[in-house]
Amino acid sequence: MKDTTILGVDVGATGFKGGLVDVKTGSMLTERFRFDTPQPATPSAMAYTFRSLIDHFDYSGVVGVGFPAIVHRNVAGSASNIDKAWIGTSISETFGRMRDVSIYALNDADAAGIATMNFGTGRSHKEDGTVVMITIGTGLGGAMFLDGELIPNFELGQLYLKGMDIIAEKFISNKVRKDNDMDWKTFGKRLNKYLTHVNFILNPDLIVLGGGGSKYFVDYKKYIKCGCEVKPAEMRNTAGTVGAAVYAYQRHHRKVAAV
Ligand code: BGC
Repeated sequence: MKDTTILGVDVGATGFKGGLVDVKTGSMLTERFRFDTPQPATPSAMAYTFRSLIDHFDYSGVVGVGFPAIVHRNVAGSASNIDKAWIGTSISETFGRMRDVSIYALNDADAAGIATMNFGTGRSHKEDGTVVMITIGTGLGGAMFLDGELIPNFELGQLYLKGMDIIAEKFISNKVRKDNDMDWKTFGKRLNKYLTHVNFILNPDLIVLGGGGSKYFVDYKKYIKCGCEVKPAEMRNTAGTVGAAVYAYQRHHRKVAAV
């Protein structure tokens, strides 16, 4: 296998998706394989699922993991939609046990953003400008890029909107839409309220929407008037997987070069 072929894993609160990625072109070399995320999503239960994914691909080597939490140096710093036991737990050590893998973990929205900036909708501002990526899934993920460089762990789903006593991701997400059987008008207006706030505080050149909720953009785009250009991600399903693999490749080579 070429050293530019890396396993990317997109860990979500509801599904684990992984596949082999060509990190030079950003394309998937295999179909993505999916497992349900165990509930409760404890470190040991998720490690078991992760190992099943490794075994499915019969893979050893560098693995990129997009994880639905704040991630500092491979350690989870929050647990909004997964088991609280993750807080302070090393993702690379927990997942890497018993397999021949070098794991590089990052926040899942940051992973999706990396793919978007390199191979997708964000390319227009890779050299110049600020781009915010919002992933609309079980939770709301946020990623911020300045001239193509990631500023990690922008927890934009945790914001409080004016006059509200719940965080933004409990007001608007793909899960909130499904749980409440929401029509597109209600969804679009709620999302617009949120994006208007995000635009007001960050003033990006572009907001890219990703995650499951972005694939219906045509159904609600007429309600989005937040004062900033908003586009759906071109790489809808694969962005998190591709971005995690690209990140791991870059980190690994930086580390190898430093030895
Ligand atoms: C988490 C974020 C994550 C987002 C999307 C939120 O609940 O706090 O870290 O990026 O969900 O999974």
